[in-house]
Amino acid sequence: MTEKKVDNVFLNSSEDAVVILDQTQLPGKEEYLTLSTVEEMYEAILHLKVRGAPAIGICAGYCMYCLAKQIKTKDFDGFYRELSGYRDHLNSSRPTAVNLSWALKRMDKVAVDNKERGVDEIVRLMGEECRKIQEEDIAMCREISRLGLTLIKDGDGILTHCNAGPLATSRYGTALGPLLLGKEQGMDFKVFADETRPLLQGARLTSYELHKAGIDVTLICDNMASIVMKNGWVQACFVGCDRIAANGDTANKIGTSGVAILAKHYGIPFYVLGPTSTVDMSCPDGDHIEIELRDPEEIKSKFYEKPMAPEGVKCYNPAFDVTDHDLITAIVTEKGICRAPYGESLKKLFDPIS
Ligand code: MRU
Repeated sequence: MTEKKVDNVFLNSSEDAVVILDQTQLPGKEEYLTLSTVEEMYEAILHLKVRGAPAIGICAGYCMYCLAKQIKTKDFDGFYRELSGYRDHLNSSRPTAVNLSWALKRMDKVAVDNKERGVDEIVRLMGEECRKIQEEDIAMCREISRLGLTLIKDGDGILTHCNAGPLATSRYGTALGPLLLGKEQGMDFKVFADETRPLLQGARLTSYELHKAGIDVTLICDNMASIVMKNGWVQACFVGCDRIAANGDTANKIGTSGVAILAKHYGIPFYVLGPTSTVDMSCPDGDHIEIELRDPEEIKSKFYEKPMAPEGVKCYNPAFDVTDHDLITAIVTEKGICRAPYGESLKKLFDPIS
C-alpha cells in the first residue's frame, strides 16, 4: 500500500515511521523523508525539515507513537523510562514553539493515565492520540481561517512574515488560512510576503504556497515592509505565532516585532493567528519565553555561493522575537478572536465562565 501524500506529516503504512515533506528542499524539490529513529526525528526538527509550530507538534505526536512501538519491554516502569528519554530528547530540539512540548506532554499523559492497562494498550491509545492531534489541527485551521476572513475584505493588501500556511500546519494554515479560504470563495487579495531572513521561509515557502494556489503574491525583502506600508498597499498584517504568553506577548519568527512596530506607525491592524495550543498560560509574559539561538552560519554563508561575512566575525542569530501585546490588534484562535486586555480575553478561551 502506498501512502496518500496529502499531509506534510503522516505515518507510513506500517505505522513504524513518520513521513515528512522535507521543507528545506522547497521550492525546488518535493522530497519526502522517512524518520524511524529518535536521532532522525530530532535532526529533522532541529534543521527545520519539519517546521512551523503546529506541524512540529503533529510530528512530535507521531514520533512518540512510533518510538513507543519500538520499546521492547512490557514492564510499565521500564517502558516509561525509555519513553521519557525519547520525550526529553525531542523536547530539547527547539525551545520556543510551545506546540512541541504541548504535544509531547499530551502523548506522555496517555501513558501515565493508562498505567494500569498494560503497555500494548497504552501504545494503541497513543496511536489514537497522535491522530487526534492532527485531526484537531485540521479543524483548528478551518476555524481560524473562517474567523480571520471576517477581518479583511476583497481586494485588501495583506503583509505576512515567515510561513504560517499549510506547510506549517495541516491544510489551510493559520496566517495564510483566511487568504486561501477567501480565494476559494472568489475573493482576491494582494499579498506581500517578507522573504524572512536568514532562513527564507517567506521566499521559499510562503510565496511557493500562495503562488501555487493562484493568489497574487509579491515577494519583498524584509527591509521593504516599510515602503509597501507607506505606499498604502497594506490594509492588514497577518502573522503566525510560536508561543503566546498569558498577557498576549507573542513569540514568532525573528523580524515579526519589527513588522508590528511599522504597522503601528502606519496605522495598519496587526493580527496574530494561532491555535490555542500555542497559548502558554503558564508563561506570564514575553520576558519568560526562551528564544532559540541558531548557528551563525545561517547568516554568514547559508544560501550564498560563497561566505558573505568575514571569517570569525561575531554573529547574533535569534530565531524568534517577541511582539509586545500592545502592538497586536487581535489574536485569532480557533475558539474566537481575542482583543485587549489579553490577560482577560486569553483566559476566557480556556475558562469561558471566568
Ligand atoms: O523557525 P520556524 O520556521 O519553525 O518558524 C515558524 C514561525 O515563526 C511561524 O510563524 C509559526 O511557527 C507559526 S506556523 C503556523
